[in-house]
Amino acid sequence: MIKRTIQAIRVHHYGGPEVLQLEQISCPEPGAGEVLVRVHAAGVLPADCATRQGIFIKKTFPYIPGSAFAGVIEEVGPGVTDWKVGQAVCGRASNGTSTQYTTVIVDERQNSAINLLTPKPETLTFDEAATLSAGATTAWTALLEDGGLQAGQRVLIHGAAGGVGLFAVQFARWKGAQVFATTSTANVDFVRSLGAETVIDYTTTPFEEMVHDVDLVLDTIGGETLLRSMKLVRRGGTLVSIYEPPLAELAEQLGIRAGMNHTIPKSEHLRKVTQLIDEGHARPTIRRVFALHEARKAHELCETGHGRGRIVLHIADEADRSLSRGSSSSG
Ligand SMILES: NC(=O)c1ccc[n+]([C@@H]2O[C@H](COP(=O)([O-])OP(=O)(O)OC[C@H]3O[C@@H](n4cnc5c(N)ncnc54)[C@H](OP(=O)(O)O)[C@@H]3O)[C@@H](O)[C@H]2O)c1
Repeated sequence: MIKRTIQAIRVHHYGGPEVLQLEQISCPEPGAGEVLVRVHAAGVLPADCATRQGIFIKKTFPYIPGSAFAGVIEEVGPGVTDWKVGQAVCGRASNGTSTQYTTVIVDERQNSAINLLTPKPETLTFDEAATLSAGATTAWTALLEDGGLQAGQRVLIHGAAGGVGLFAVQFARWKGAQVFATTSTANVDFVRSLGAETVIDYTTTPFEEMVHDVDLVLDTIGGETLLRSMKLVRRGGTLVSIYEPPLAELAEQLGIRAGMNHTIPKSEHLRKVTQLIDEGHARPTIRRVFALHEARKAHELCETGHGRGRIVLHIADEADRSLSRGSSSSG
């Protein structure tokens, strides 16, 4: 059988956005316990840039960048019974998603953190659904599982306009917490529209002037922001960082629990957030959409560390875009 040729972005050595190459490769085949997905859209994560720079996940070259995706199942591998050809799905794939086709491990027994799959929310386009993994899933596990957020608690969320923060604000409001959030001037109204009661413009106001004695901090920024935030947590409260480990000695002195997020998102977490989205409790926001061949520009924008919402590569044909709201699955 002649192997189908597809387009993919590949990286042959670590470096800047210029190492992202658009290439023709053979279409992968799904192995046992895997599905082949036609990728309609891929989320571009800060982690993808850090990996490309050689400072995060170590890779074997060449590799295809990206992990978050939304698309349609094209083929199912041996032993796969729960998923069907034609189903619209979203999730995360360890084989890379800046490509027209990728394989996803669906066998929960061999499923790793990086392989997640769930039906695409009916209410979202493929571009929107590609923003959920490592955005909504991280916000959910960090706030609700690691942070144990409860109704009525006071929570401070940093980087509230970002791919994780924007979901964190909405989930915290859904939970019934009182939300304090930091962002820059351009995003203040946006973050308020997500449900934050107190929005602090970090470019003009030290957040200590606006918030204190919180039950929980979700820190997405690190450095000085992390250090200063530890002092705002009430004794017995919690700080969860998704960027860098907080100082253990300082946490002990202050009588707070502080650590990195440690709950690894699973497909069940992704299913929970898609349910909340379909029920209208949260919405994604897209910062900007690029075509696959514009992956370098997408990474350049992502590396700025500023902006509102998640950057997306729209990979399927333009014609698919108009169909994308209608072609979701039943199961
Ligand atoms: N550990 C994990 O499991 C995990 C998972 C996902 C992400 N992460 C990490 O978490 C971080 C955030 O991820 P993301 O996807 O949300 O990134 P993102 O989409 O790039 O968003 C970053 C946000 O941070 C804001 N920001 C920058 N400086 C700030 C400051 N001093 N105070 C408050 N907000 C500030 C920016 O808003 P403005 O434009 O308003 O400045 C931007 O909206 C990244 O470092 C990422 O690698 C970790």
